[in-house]
Amino acid sequence: MSAAPLRLGLAGLGTVGIGVVKIVQRHAALIAARTGREVVITAVSARDRSKNRDADLSGYAWETDPVALATRADVDVFVEVMGGHEGAARAATEAAIAAGKDVVTANKALLAHHGQSLALAAEAAGRVIRFEAAVAGGIPVIKALTEGLAGNQIRRVMGVMNGSCNYILTRMQNEGLSYQEVFDAAQQLGYLEADPNLDVGGIDAGHKLSLLAAIAFGTRVSFDAVELEGIGNVSIDDIRLAEDMGYRIKLLGVAQLTGRGLEQRMTPCLVPADSPLGQLQGGTNMVVLEGDSVGQIVLRGPGAGEGPTASAVMADVIDIARGLRLPTFGQPAATLATPVAARTATPAPWYLRMTLLDKPGALAKIATCLGEAGVSIDQMRQYGHQGANAPVLIVTHKAARDDIDHAIGRFAGTGVLVGAPVAIRIEEV
Ligand code: NAP
Ligand code: HSE
Repeated sequence: MSAAPLRLGLAGLGTVGIGVVKIVQRHAALIAARTGREVVITAVSARDRSKNRDADLSGYAWETDPVALATRADVDVFVEVMGGHEGAARAATEAAIAAGKDVVTANKALLAHHGQSLALAAEAAGRVIRFEAAVAGGIPVIKALTEGLAGNQIRRVMGVMNGSCNYILTRMQNEGLSYQEVFDAAQQLGYLEADPNLDVGGIDAGHKLSLLAAIAFGTRVSFDAVELEGIGNVSIDDIRLAEDMGYRIKLLGVAQLTGRGLEQRMTPCLVPADSPLGQLQGGTNMVVLEGDSVGQIVLRGPGAGEGPTASAVMADVIDIARGLRLPTFGQPAATLATPVAARTATPAPWYLRMTLLDKPGALAKIATCLGEAGVSIDQMRQYGHQGANAPVLIVTHKAARDDIDHAIGRFAGTGVLVGAPVAIRIEEV
């Protein structure tokens, strides 16, 4: 083989890092055949050198400091699979770019917070940053957007991009368990991040959505503008009632460029039960991309885990080995527009659940509040009475979030409301 080997410096030997080691070792011949050069690991880094790891690392130099690893003369590509948006990951990535290395990372938090500055630095230095593994694990969604759909104006990006949340919601749905019961089980099984709020608070999925939005709409990453709401308040009652009306509840990300600006939301939504998103079970991810020429495409697959995530890391490494060099977000970072965040989300139908005192005129008072807020009722159901209380479910016609909030604010003054109402957006998918 005439071309020089591509030499990787691997920072992080956890789930993803060990998966990368295994692919590099298992598929050395296959990768060389596909790229025309060998891909080798020269040095690795992790915190604890004495830890027993499920791979043979004896042929690799060890660096205690990831910055030292990133700047080694025998490293061409710095592979960052440590995690965290500050500290070692940020310092080593910046050092790698300054030292003239290409970067492959699985770290969505790092790019959601520092993607623009890192991309500018990399492009000024003539280096690339690749991050297929950072969004939806094994699903090649970054490649789909930056390459496969490059001839489209992207209209909307949607997806279920946090496997842990989908695992919790589908177990609640299928087994009738409470949020807390499934959350505890997921934590025991090691499915949740060390800080579980990154998962159940929607933050991890929000990071991913902000990266897709940057590529899709040619705008700077603006994670701070993502409307975030986690799944902690989704109740088994809402899951059951939604199902009864033909819907499922998902932690759904939606990004679209509207006349009012860039809309980015990662919130629990009702989606039709028979839609691909509604059918999505367990830890699987799904990303829906809509382009003006292609229409809608749906990508589905494993969003996490050793093999799937390492598969995506290696796809980026192989692109670099093949000489494919694209700007981080699909166009030069200096040309990305500063997005104007849409102040309010596109109007949608809403699911409203509340408990009313079961007395004459109660429902009429609620209907009046909705009408006065400009919200029109599409469907209404009253479920089995519980003593003096009547659980009521309303599905509205399309309404703006502000109008829904306005109506709910008025409910309190009716004297017929028991407890707090629940409002969940219904997404047209
Ligand atoms: P992990 O299992 O916790 O492994 C992290 C690795 O980084 C460990 O080997 C750790 O060393 C090392 N590390 C952490 N801080 C370090 C430091 N300051 N200096 C040197 N080494 C350090 O994490 P992971 O699940 O592999 O995830 C890695 C990255 O991939 C994260 O950005 C994550 O968000 C992303 N990702 C993960 C998945 C997944 O399925 N796990 C999917 C998509 C993206 P020790 O082993 O010595 O503690
Ligand atoms: N915590 C993430 C998830 C891991 O559950 O999807 C992959 O990013």
